[in-house]
Amino acid sequence: MTGNTKNIKSIAVLTSGGDSPGMNAAIRAVVRAGLFYKKKVFGVRNGYDGLIDNRIEELDTNSVKHILNAGGTFLKSARSERFRTKEGRAQAFKNLEHLGVDSLVVIGGNGSFTGANIFSEEFEIPVVGVPGTIDNDLFGSDRTVGYDTANNTVLECVDKIRDTATSHNRLFLVEVMGRDAGFIALNTGLASGAFDIILPEENKTYEDLFAEVKRGAANKKTSNIIIVSEGNKLGPTYDIAKNLHKNFPHLDIKVTILGHLQRGGSPSCLDRVLASELGVHAVEGLLNGKSRVMVGKVNNQLTYTFFEQAIFNKAYINQDLLRISKILSI
Ligand code: F6P
Repeated sequence: MTGNTKNIKSIAVLTSGGDSPGMNAAIRAVVRAGLFYKKKVFGVRNGYDGLIDNRIEELDTNSVKHILNAGGTFLKSARSERFRTKEGRAQAFKNLEHLGVDSLVVIGGNGSFTGANIFSEEFEIPVVGVPGTIDNDLFGSDRTVGYDTANNTVLECVDKIRDTATSHNRLFLVEVMGRDAGFIALNTGLASGAFDIILPEENKTYEDLFAEVKRGAANKKTSNIIIVSEGNKLGPTYDIAKNLHKNFPHLDIKVTILGHLQRGGSPSCLDRVLASELGVHAVEGLLNGKSRVMVGKVNNQLTYTFFEQAIFNKAYINQDLLRISKILSI
């Protein structure tokens, strides 16, 4: 877990991959903690692309004022193809070396940590990751920065859809993000009182789904919300709607894809606090010799998890929440 971390003099911070609410709060925490410990702090624009293009600038405490409550990431983010190449990473290291930057904090998800791990190993530069993704799919932290806000955003939308679904006796399929993880779907499905939740983690068949719809009708439900996780195994949400329509032609079925609005908005209190804690601990981890690890919180305890484990170990959805959602949606 330790790397060449003695005498760290400066820290660069970047955000990478899909943005998430609270990334700004995490950047602010890294910058202010770095300055607190008398280190130089640099911000990298556009994620790993900015490392390669030398878009690296020194930040001071005022550079991060009034961003705690702002959604997105003021440093901007990218999914860099060039950083996947050895040449790209070599150029990135050259740029950091030229500025005297000797450590890095990466705020992002799976893909970002894969790049960080390779980069740190290749050039022996200490790197610590902060989990920043709405998907909550990282092993080594019970929550990722942005997940809580995204849940609240989805919930607000589903509550509104519920109003119109009830007024018109309609069945709504609401698709939520999460890539191949069903955290957002499960949590918001339970919190919104959805009739059904279609998750990537379950092998639900059309027979199961049709049986559930029949059960709903038998229980005199006149309108229904089904939360569909984008990575589910039944298929694209519009196809699910078509198949439902074929079997239940009398049902008035609508599809709402919530899409990228789930990634925006001012971070919740929980996300701001989490981002602040993890940002400070990322810096303290670096200064204490940690490298190639992701900082996280598990059972309310601070943890550092090797990048390999954070990436390759699976973060499991809470099976008890799934069971409870089934009990409550009869
Ligand atoms: O990882 C965050 C996420 O929003 C996923 O939930 C989603 O599948 C993906 O990113 C979308 O990526 P993009 O914004 O590049 O289309």
